[in-house]
Amino acid sequence: MPVLDWLGKDKVINHHLDVPFRFLDKKFSVGASENKIIHGDNLLALKSLLPEFAGRVKCIYIDPPYNTGNENWIYNDAVNDPQIRRWLGQVVGKEGEDLTRHDKWLCMMYPRLRLLQKLLSDDGAIFISIDDNEQANLKLICDEIFGAQNFLIQMTRVTKRSGKSTEIFAKNDDSLLVYAKSAKCKLNPFRHNDAGFKFRDEFFEQRGLYKLNQTLDYDSLQYSDSLDYPLTIDGVTYYAGSSEENFLKRKAGEHKRADWAWRWSQEKFNFGYANDFIVVKKTRNGTRIYTKTYQRATIDVADGNYFIKYSERTAPVSSLALTANEFSNDNATKDLTSIFAEKVFDYPKPVALIEFILQLATDKDSIVLDSFAGSGTTAHAVINLNAQDGGNRKFILIELNDYAETITAKRVELVGGEFDFYELGAELFDADGFINAEIPREKIFDYVYFAETQKHYEPTDEKFLLGVDEDTAYYFFDDAELNFDLLAKIRTRANSYVIYAENCTLAESELNDFHITFKKIPRDIPRL
Ligand SMILES: C[S@@+](CC[C@H](N)C(=O)[O-])C[C@H]1O[C@@H](n2cnc3c(N)ncnc32)[C@H](O)[C@@H]1O
Repeated sequence: MPVLDWLGKDKVINHHLDVPFRFLDKKFSVGASENKIIHGDNLLALKSLLPEFAGRVKCIYIDPPYNTGNENWIYNDAVNDPQIRRWLGQVVGKEGEDLTRHDKWLCMMYPRLRLLQKLLSDDGAIFISIDDNEQANLKLICDEIFGAQNFLIQMTRVTKRSGKSTEIFAKNDDSLLVYAKSAKCKLNPFRHNDAGFKFRDEFFEQRGLYKLNQTLDYDSLQYSDSLDYPLTIDGVTYYAGSSEENFLKRKAGEHKRADWAWRWSQEKFNFGYANDFIVVKKTRNGTRIYTKTYQRATIDVADGNYFIKYSERTAPVSSLALTANEFSNDNATKDLTSIFAEKVFDYPKPVALIEFILQLATDKDSIVLDSFAGSGTTAHAVINLNAQDGGNRKFILIELNDYAETITAKRVELVGGEFDFYELGAELFDADGFINAEIPREKIFDYVYFAETQKHYEPTDEKFLLGVDEDTAYYFFDDAELNFDLLAKIRTRANSYVIYAENCTLAESELNDFHITFKKIPRDIPRL
């Protein structure tokens, strides 16, 4: 598989592991919910989300800076490398002024995508908006991070109907790259367009509305002798193409037009007729036989037996599904000005785009994450869809800019959303690698227990117990020495023990006898 290389790649390939772990600091709440809006750099915020959300996010949508050269985004990650230090804090500008803007963009995106990949659930998917400036680069790093086998589709979205980019070309689209986390990815089949279903019969409750848009002999693409048979209904015989004379000529091999045959076999017709999937209708051109197409019922066959299959009619999603005007930027601007009554944000996406993604990739209780939140369109779409289908999807938004409160959060509030608003809080470890004294014990316990087991800490009446997982009990004795006095305090019985303490005076053989693994604080605390 081709792998992309760029200036600085070797310095960022594992940078997500060096990112300091910071706790989230709740500043205020609007209503009572599990939704989060986080103000801060998403590199740090994504890391902070790991203990609670790793492997739990069903749908990620991101709309990172496209790196057009006009966006004024700043590359500021604390990567410890002279090359990158020279870039730090510089505004990323036009190609001519700054030849390394693609390197910087890739250095910025790579560790963030690594963290996003960890947050996705096994059945989840990530959707990324991008345009030609970085599309090819992004595709290659996503193949590397998510696995080329998990690439699902690249969809084209019409951004605007008119306008031009150069004297010759008008660039009117961008792309949506879609990757699954794994082969277990579960997307929802798209409901077929319901337009045209307008008739109701006595089966409406089960089958929904129906339409009559094809005669039984219409559009037979290929002649088939077995489908060219006389059909008798109520004593009247019908022929495909209506003419008995032509039918006899076809059977004698004399008729040149080979395109008349029924679409259904005699057996399927018999079943369909007996079960009201057939309508015989007099028209100006004679009697015609129509098939009914229902919204929620089709004729299926298994082991030669026909039966009625009840399910929503679905259709594959075309890679051109986002070329309709409702997904364009013009519509996005309208969405936002209808809330703020003035232009407050430069490059929003339309709510319809993200509703489309959510319908495809979420269940009613899924967690949705957008780590380049901008004006908060993703939360708006979550709120809309929950209102439509009674769902309880939760959203997490991350926005770096100070408008996280004045635009992102404000919009969510104005459209009726509830959320907790966070800033990035204290780091878990101080500059010398010791646990930060400001951090409450519960948060440290949760971090350590999650890092060990990927499970969450639930306080019990045993003060130093983090939890029991797979018959191993985890203890965290801060400010204590692991010795026999300490062991006497352990009340939970388990097959084995992982015990964190400042130091240990038990001999190796004693630890083995009691099935204890000693871990030194802070040295052995896993780094997420
Ligand atoms: C193109 S906008 C997203 C627009 C959004 N989809 C909408 O509909 O409003 C990209 C956003 O990502 C934010 N951003 C850029 N770098 C970031 C970072 N490192 N952490 C968090 N947000 C970041 C920018 O401030 C900007 O608001």
